Amino acid sequence: MLNDRSSPLSLLETRRSATPRELVGPAPTRAELAEIITIAARIPDHGKLHPWRFVTVAEDQRDTLASLLHEALAEENPEASEAHHKKEDEFAHYEGQLVVLVSAPIEGHKIPVWEQQLSAGAAGMNLLMGAHALGYVAGWVTGWRAYSEYVRAAFCSPGERIAGFIFIGHPARELEERDRPALSEVWTGWKPRP
Ligand SMILES: Cc1cc2nc3c(=O)[nH]c(=O)nc-3n(C[C@H](O)[C@H](O)[C@H](O)COP(=O)(O)O)c2cc1C
Repeated sequence: MLNDRSSPLSLLETRRSATPRELVGPAPTRAELAEIITIAARIPDHGKLHPWRFVTVAEDQRDTLASLLHEALAEENPEASEAHHKKEDEFAHYEGQLVVLVSAPIEGHKIPVWEQQLSAGAAGMNLLMGAHALGYVAGWVTGWRAYSEYVRAAFCSPGERIAGFIFIGHPARELEERDRPALSEVWTGWKPRP
């Protein structure tokens, strides 16, 4: 059962993502969102740098987001088709709460940037878990938008980058399980070199 939240273990064992375009409302309330983000921020963070942050896009900002994506797409790919622009409009209006996860590493710090980026990944993961624990489903996507300099500049300060767009809502249909790697593929005992 993918929505079994009856114990801490089942919570961990049943979480799975939804495709953001298939999410429906209602989105988390402001108080729930604060709880989800608090959980997301409670993650390993070498040096206590919190090299990540969360930017929420309000419901009444979705048209502005759509305009931004149209402008970004036109700049990135002047040949982009009408269908592609339509897709961006749809993306900007997906239901649920949009949280943009920003990776904000401190360059030149004694804590390597790699570790700071790993911490951002952990923040994203806990955001998904927190949403699941509160009875929501989330989906983490990137795509060209996360790598567009135009979009980056709208969400990030210099040196920061978009780690993902995470939508939180409810699944429009029952989620199906997906294949997971066999334990033998991801778990071995250490074999020291002779
Ligand atoms: C950093 C990151 C970026 C991702 N970007 C996309 C994406 O752009 N499109 C997509 O379909 N899935 C993307 N995914 C995968 C989904 O978020 C998710 O992992 C997948 O749908 C199955 O997730 P589950 O194992 O949580 O069920 C991304 C995952 C991560 C960690």
